[in-house]
Amino acid sequence: MALQNYIRLDDALCAYVREHRSGWTDPLWRALQAETLRLGAVAEMMIPEEEGAFLTFLVATLRVRQAIEIGTFTGASGLAIARGLAEGGTLLSLDRSEEWTAIARSFWERAGVRGRIELRLGPALESLHAIPGEAIFDFAFIDADKTGYDAYYEALLPRMRPGGVLLFDNMLRGGRVLDRDGTDDPDTRAIRALNDKLRNDPRIEGLLLPVADGIYLCRKR
Ligand SMILES: C[S@@+](CC[C@H](N)C(=O)[O-])C[C@H]1O[C@@H](n2cnc3c(N)ncnc32)[C@H](O)[C@@H]1O
Repeated sequence: MALQNYIRLDDALCAYVREHRSGWTDPLWRALQAETLRLGAVAEMMIPEEEGAFLTFLVATLRVRQAIEIGTFTGASGLAIARGLAEGGTLLSLDRSEEWTAIARSFWERAGVRGRIELRLGPALESLHAIPGEAIFDFAFIDADKTGYDAYYEALLPRMRPGGVLLFDNMLRGGRVLDRDGTDDPDTRAIRALNDKLRNDPRIEGLLLPVADGIYLCRKR
């Protein structure tokens, strides 16, 4: 007999989850969401608020000082990470969109975290390779082009300190990793391959969390 010791969230239960956390009525997050929604369908790329709260919580608990994210968009994950940083901590945020990151900059300013974040524009892999060899990160959040995740992982892992934590977003692809309905796109294939690679990778300890669209959490050995 398989144990069914998990829960399927419907809209009402998801709303209940969102409303039962500290800071659940964050007006700045709501304003950022409203501004992002004005961009149209791409707004779906913004991480949900409970994922932002999870990032802040994790970064604060780990006392992160040097963080990096790949995939800034309008600044939600950057805001969440920066809010959790230890005193004197910094976040390096990578993206290639001038337009979307202009919104990020203005919201980081409003949140009072602009001074803790360095934004670098350009193709993320090039930006990663340009980081000086001595840069050691203790936290990384990867949320950009899905076919690039594996290359970002390989470029980042040597720059993480032992015990450092890397998170990959969208690792369930809305359930498409199981390919139940026969859909098979390059992004989903890349994520499936990375999920398989990470569980067998002796360089890390990893687990796939069913938070938001699936977060793969890795700790460098
Ligand atoms: C899913 S969004 C990131 C969402 C963001 N983390 C948030 O919390 O709202 C993906 C971002 O990755 C950026 N991106 C995609 N491919 C990229 C690449 N090759 N180099 C740099 N940025 C890239 C896009 O411009 C976009 O802003």
